[in-house]
Formats: sequence, C-alpha cells, structure tokens
Amino acid sequence: MNTKNFYVTTPIYYVNDKPHIGHAYTTVLADVLARYHRSLGDETFFLTGTDEHGQKVEKAAAARHMDPKAHCDETVQRFQSLWKRLGITNDRYIRTTDEYHKEVVRKILQNLYDRGEIYKAEYTGWYCVGDERFFTEKDLVDGKCPECGREVSSIVESNYFFRMSKYREWLIDYIETHPGFIQPAFRANETLGFLRKGLGDLCISRPKARLSWGIELPFDPDYVCYVWFDALINYISGVGYLQDDAMFEKWWPASYHLIGKDILTTHSVYWPTMLKAIGLPLPKTIFAHGWWLTGNTKMSKSLGNVVNPMDMADRCGVDAFRYFLMAEMSPGNDANFTEEGFVTRYNSDLANDLGNLLSRVLKMTLRNANGTIPTPGALTADEEELKREVASAIDTMESSLAALKFDQGLAAVMNAVRAGNRYLEKTAPWTLAKKGETERLNTVLFTAADALRQFSVLLYPVMPEKMAELRKALGYTGDELNDAKIADLRTRPCDLAGRHVQDTSGLFPRIDVTPKEETPAPAPKPADKKKKAAPVNVFAPIGIEEFAKIELRTAKILAAEKVEGADKLQKLQLDVGGEKRQIVSGIAQWYTPETLVGKTIVIVANLKPAVIRGVESNGMLLAAKSGKELKLVTIDGEFASGAQVG
Ligand code: MSP
Repeated sequence: MNTKNFYVTTPIYYVNDKPHIGHAYTTVLADVLARYHRSLGDETFFLTGTDEHGQKVEKAAAARHMDPKAHCDETVQRFQSLWKRLGITNDRYIRTTDEYHKEVVRKILQNLYDRGEIYKAEYTGWYCVGDERFFTEKDLVDGKCPECGREVSSIVESNYFFRMSKYREWLIDYIETHPGFIQPAFRANETLGFLRKGLGDLCISRPKARLSWGIELPFDPDYVCYVWFDALINYISGVGYLQDDAMFEKWWPASYHLIGKDILTTHSVYWPTMLKAIGLPLPKTIFAHGWWLTGNTKMSKSLGNVVNPMDMADRCGVDAFRYFLMAEMSPGNDANFTEEGFVTRYNSDLANDLGNLLSRVLKMTLRNANGTIPTPGALTADEEELKREVASAIDTMESSLAALKFDQGLAAVMNAVRAGNRYLEKTAPWTLAKKGETERLNTVLFTAADALRQFSVLLYPVMPEKMAELRKALGYTGDELNDAKIADLRTRPCDLAGRHVQDTSGLFPRIDVTPKEETPAPAPKPADKKKKAAPVNVFAPIGIEEFAKIELRTAKILAAEKVEGADKLQKLQLDVGGEKRQIVSGIAQWYTPETLVGKTIVIVANLKPAVIRGVESNGMLLAAKSGKELKLVTIDGEFASGAQVG
C-alpha cells in the first residue's frame, strides 16, 4: 500500500441491532477521519457494513417466520438509512451475506484447511448464546459468561479448530515491537496480559444441527463457519482480496480498524493470527475507543437509556450531533451523553462562539462595505496575533488527526474562534465605521472573514453541511462550497476579497433549555428586535399523540399563601372540577396571594406529584414569561373549573 493511501474500517454491526449512539460514534469517527484524509489529498477508502450470520439472526428471523436473508434485507436498511442521514461517505457497504464475501471466506477456509492450519477435534466447553462464543471452564466467572454475565450451556461436540495457539509467541513479539499497532497503548498492554495467560486454538465451526445460518465449510457440509471468523474477513474481502488484486494491493494493509473496547480481543488476537496464517501483513493500527454512557451508566435496552441517533439528528441537526460526538469523546476513554451536556456544548461552541463571529462579520460587511469583503490595508500586531492563533489551530488539528484526538483538534479551533471574537472586540470595527477609518475597517473585516474561511475548512469534515452554508455566507458558490481542503490552507492564498457575503443568521440557532421545576413554564420568547434566528427547542417537534399525553385543565384558585422560607414560592389551593388540589409555584415575585384568589387558571393536571421545599405539589400552572415579566394563563370570564384545555 502506498503511504498516501488511507484505508479505514468500522466494525461491521450486527444486523439485528437497532443502531444506537455507539454505532453512530464509530461510524462518524471513521467518516471524519476519511474526510480529513481526503481533505489532505490522500487517496482514501472507507468501509463499513453489517455482520449478518449467526444464531441471533437465525432466531430473530425464525420468530418472524422469515427466511434469515429476507430478515437481514429488511433490518440492514436501519443502518443504511442512518448512515445516509448522518452524511457518512463510505466507499463500500459490505454485508457478510454478499456472495463475493462468502466466496472469499470459503477460499480462505479451504486454503487454511489444506495447509493443516485448521483441524477437527472433539470439543468440550461452555457456550454463551448471547455472545456466540465458547469458553473454557477457567474462563467462566462464577459459572457465568465472562463477557456478559449470562448463563452458559455445556457443550460436547466435534468441531473444526484454527491453530491459533501456535502464533502466541509471535504475536506477543509483534505487539511489543510495533508500539502503534494497538492503540491507545494501554489496550496493547491489555492484549499482552491476555496473551501471557495462554492462548488456545480457536473453534471456527458450528454444527449445522445447532446452527445453519452461516457460511458452509467448503470441506465439510455438516458445518457452518463461526460468525467472528467470517466477519473479520470482511476487512480484506471488502477491498478485493482474491478478487481484484490491484484493488487489494492498493488498500491493504488497512490504516485503521476503528473498534469499541468491547471487541478488542477478537481484533487484537483472533484477527492478527488469522492474517499471519493466511500470509498477509497486519493492519497498521487497531484503535479501540471507549464507551458512550448515559448519565454515567452503561446504556442498555433494559434501562431504557439508549440514545437513538436518528432521533438526535432529527431534533438537533446532523452536524450539531456529529460535532458533539467528536468534541465530547476523548477517544480511548469513556464519554457521557446527556441532553444537558449536548445543549451546553452546542450553545457555547456553535451558537455563541462560532455563530456570533460569523454574524458579526456578515452584518458589519453588509452595513459598512456594501456586502463585499474588502481588500485589506496594512496589517498590525492585532492581525498578526489572530493569524498566529489560526495557524496554531491548523497545526493542532493536523497533529490531533495523526493521534486520533479530534476532541483536542476541535478545542484548538474553538480557541481560535474565540480569539476571532476577541479580535473584533479589540479592533472595534463598529467604531472604525463611525469614525470613517475605512482602510483600517477593511483590514479588520477581511482578517476576520479570512479566519472564518479557515475555520470552515478545519471544521468541514465534522460539519460538512453547516460549513458549506458558512462558505456560502462568505460568498463562495457552486463547487467552492465543498472545496474545503486542509492541504490548500497552507498553499492557496486567501481568495475572499471582492466576494459578496450573504446573511445567514440562522446557522446555529441557540437551543432553548427547558425550564426546571419551581418555575412556571414560560411561553416561547418573541423574536427580539435584532431579529436573531428563533431559538430551537430540542424537545420539539412532537406529534399530536405526545401532546395528548398532557392533561391540561382549568382550575379555580381558592386560597394562596407564601411558602415559608422560599421567597419565590406560593402555595395554592385549587378546585379542579370539585376535586381539591394543592400546587406550589414560583410566582411570588409577580402575584401577591390576594390578587390570585378567584382566578381561573390552566394547570397540567397529570404531572407526577413533587415535593418542593418540603411542600407537596400536585400539578403545575401555566404562565407566560417575557424578559422579566410573567403573566398567568387565565380563562377569559366566568368558567367551570376542571374543564379540559387543548
Ligand atoms: N458484529 C460485531 C463486530 C464484527 S467486526 C468484524 C459487533 N457488532 S455490534 O453491532 O455489537 O457493534 C459493536 C460496535 O458498536 C462496538 O465495537 C462499537 O464500535 C460500537 N458500540 C456499541 N455500543 C457502544 C457504546 N455504548 N459506546 C461506544 N461504542 C459502542 O460487535
């Protein structure tokens, strides 16, 4: 493989799974990496796909009375449409049920069998259906599966084995002498620890009597191939192994296999020994990233805390989601996903810092330079300083790319963005305009626009759609919108002067944070005078069926009093269609108890009871808030209490 050729893979995902944030993360990471390499001018190949054989698929298809392939054809679409939605630019999508892949697996099996690398023997062991893996007695933890903790069943049967054990010493030596092979380094140590405990041969067959959904062994029709042995081969069958020599020569060995830490052993032990036996070089780097947790706990279907990436993309935008994934996780370590964390990062990095810089530059250019990016005059120390900040962001992004530390690269870009805002505050182009200092104003507007141009290039692989929009705002058109190459940043002179800017005030509208307890729900804020883009509420839009879950009712206030020790709170006694209720609300600043009694208001009647400052509250009243003003939502005139509102 030419060193300028870059080949990146993701794991091939179990076709049965519902794609979640973990799948989305690895695939977006691979996509960002592929886009950066294309942007550097490297020839790039990006492979992803689905793992479609094995017991779980067979069972799921049987439960639906379907042929397993037909079941896969249906479920694979969940992944394919998600990748389309997330802007994933894979060059090939491999399915292990693809005929070309099966053919390669069969050829490899036959070849290894003919050379004595695969042999038949009787096997006694423990099998975990969930993980589709065998374990020896000593592997078990408290008699259960060491991977997932589930029950295992004892199995005695004849099977085929790959002579993995004989490569143990070689692999230890390889890992020790190739420090970049397994990354981060502590994962290499983990693998070495595993290998030093001893290594058995690998059972690579399943009797058809037990499992028929797999690739039949070419030398024994009573068996199918073990799903992991079949799946790992995708990394070479996907780039032409035994089918297209030129293609294979071009891409193998892979630059990166990106995986999650859960599948380290299969990739760092099974796969290298398989390649060694086949006679192929090993991938340059196997990179294992950490887990996405929700609220610091593991995501699991049973806990109901699995983050659905399609949902996030719909609610917050694809690019914002991609940005969050890349900026928040320091690859190698675990990361935590919370909506609050998402909103905070989005609002501060994208809406405030980047969005603000862009909107200032656009507005000033429209107002003071007829919308045309001016030619700069003489540069001062202030311009030089901003240029240095931008150049340092380019350096950091390039080095973080080499170490797969996008979080650091993005942090450096955001630092430079903030330097851009500081530059505007210091040079104050609005004052220069007032004073008629046109040449200096031109220099400032040009310099800030040039910084934005470079940010659009550096951020393009992470947020391709938004950066194309940003480039459009700077006056680029047609192919230029997506012609954002890092390689050009150092060589091509800035081509902005004379371009006509366009105002896109809504590039990153602020996300409204949902109010917390104790404060009545405010109505959406009216667009302010400066006509900022309307804030986006992450929790919108909802369907009518979701709205229907909220029970709104009229309620008459019978009595009201302040909650002792809490300045803002009032305790209200309500009549709701004959039923008496107490609610606590944070309206004391705006209403005295006397002004409340007798009003007919609207409440959320089916809110779970809460205890606020030691007082029980059974519902929430509705109020509208604008700036410092608050008004209760009341019913016009005399009206029954307990009536439905909607
Ligand atoms: N089919 C095998 C892989 C075969 S590769 C030759 C498999 N599939 S999987 O559907 O279970 O996907 C596993 C991968 O999904 C992980 O390695 C990781 O890339 C990603 N993730 C799944 N859950 C995750 C998190 N909660 N967090 C981060 N990534 C995780 O294993």
